[in-house]
Amino acid sequence: MRVVILGSGRGSNAEALCIAQQEGRLGRARVVAIFADRPEAGILALGPRFGVDARYLDPAPFKTKLEGEGELRYIEAVRACAPDLVVLAGFMRVVKPGFLQAFAGKVINLHPSLLPSFPGLDGIGQAFRHGVKITGCTVHHVIPAIDAGPIIDQAAVRVEPTDTLESLAQKIHAAEHRLLVEVVARLSQDAR
Ligand code: GAR
Repeated sequence: MRVVILGSGRGSNAEALCIAQQEGRLGRARVVAIFADRPEAGILALGPRFGVDARYLDPAPFKTKLEGEGELRYIEAVRACAPDLVVLAGFMRVVKPGFLQAFAGKVINLHPSLLPSFPGLDGIGQAFRHGVKITGCTVHHVIPAIDAGPIIDQAAVRVEPTDTLESLAQKIHAAEHRLLVEVVARLSQDAR
């Protein structure tokens, strides 16, 4: 199963996928390319480290969504990878119907809360400030509405009275790394 990852940030979830693949824990999935919408994104350093094609792709003209020329550039580059699965791993940009139709049913997203609670930006901070006692992370199919789409799986994280925003973020990131690897491995087995 050919996997393409899109990201904007440090890429710890993409790293978890690459490490799992190296250690034989990613089923039949293989990361074939990583694309970032910011040239300075840490996720791009995974390319040379894991021998994967990793490139900045200009998302212009829009700042927060992928549409117009930028969307066409992404569709072309991702299509050239012939992906079976496109993973949005910290891709902080709204993906529009054009891209979703090009890869229908193949685009999944990771979000750091138990959706449908706390969609959008800063899911961890939103949950922490709300004072929930259980939060977590979600992997879901992507539809045009933000952080909606059928849920594939979730992992719960308990918020302890001693937790700070930073300690909670660490726990959620660790849960995300495990969940995303499990989901991708499982999807690769189902795709047999
Ligand atoms: C992750 O926590 C992911 O859930 C979040 O961005 C982070 C990326 O971290 N995504 C969203 O908030 C999407 N709405 P990473 O770059 O270290 O993988």
